[in-house]
Amino acid sequence: MNLILIGPPGAGKGTQAKQIESTHGIVQLSTGDMLRAAVKAGTEVGKRAELIMKKGELVPDEVVIGIISDRIDQPDCHHGFILDGFPRTLPQAAALDDMLRAKSKKLDVVIELKVDPKLLVERIVGRYTCAKCGEGYHDVFKKPEKSGVCDVCSSTEFARRPDDNAETMNTRLMAYYRDTSPLIGYYFCKGNLRTVDGMVAIDQVERAIEKHLVEARG
Ligand code: AP5
Ligand code: MG
Ligand code: ZN
Repeated sequence: MNLILIGPPGAGKGTQAKQIESTHGIVQLSTGDMLRAAVKAGTEVGKRAELIMKKGELVPDEVVIGIISDRIDQPDCHHGFILDGFPRTLPQAAALDDMLRAKSKKLDVVIELKVDPKLLVERIVGRYTCAKCGEGYHDVFKKPEKSGVCDVCSSTEFARRPDDNAETMNTRLMAYYRDTSPLIGYYFCKGNLRTVDGMVAIDQVERAIEKHLVEARG
């Protein structure tokens, strides 16, 4: 099964992708995570993306299209993948259609996480991850069971993203409404859009998504 999770920054794409990954054994493809890894490794792509990401703007289409096209060819994607943060523009959506056709793959469902933009800053500003294993947490909504210790790997080191501040968040939201939200109409017209309420608790969102995945799988 191949699916897209779409929604503004802080909507819960990463949180839900991780969940689907473990329930369905399909792989999360987050262009944001891949770009952050490239920045950390100091690659050419990373050097090109670093400042753009820090400002909350979108990295050029050809960069992310190239990354995803290569990634989808990897053997771990054969059982299916969850696109988290891609496509983000109409040209990216068109390129995805072309690449899936060329690779004889299809898109099963597009899940829109519908959220109230007023409440997203709180989610973003409170977010942090385990510096060792990447598990995601939140100061209020998803605390580790033991304060200061990662539930998954027991590490005590955590990190916050450089773009997770109120000012950059506004630019990221603007980019979403300007460039990405037209994709909701695009996938609605193609017939594979399903919308879930992203403002309810994490496990409720998870159950709502699961219903659509079961339906899409037939
Ligand atoms: P990316 O990494 O994709 O960031 P984003 O879209 O801004 O989304 P986030 O990762 O911030 O949010 P999320 O929806 O994953 O939320 P999460 O689950 O973590 O992209 C970063 C940058 O890379 C972009 O700005 C751009 O520069 C570049 N880029 C990436 N892809 C690109 C592309 N295709 N084209 C061009 N440029 C690209 O949840 C957030 C917090 O809320 C967490 O703490 C979580 O615990 C909590 N939470 C989640 N769900 C709930 C809930 N239901 N209730 C309460 N709290 C919740
Ligand atoms: Mg994310
Ligand atoms: Zn950890």
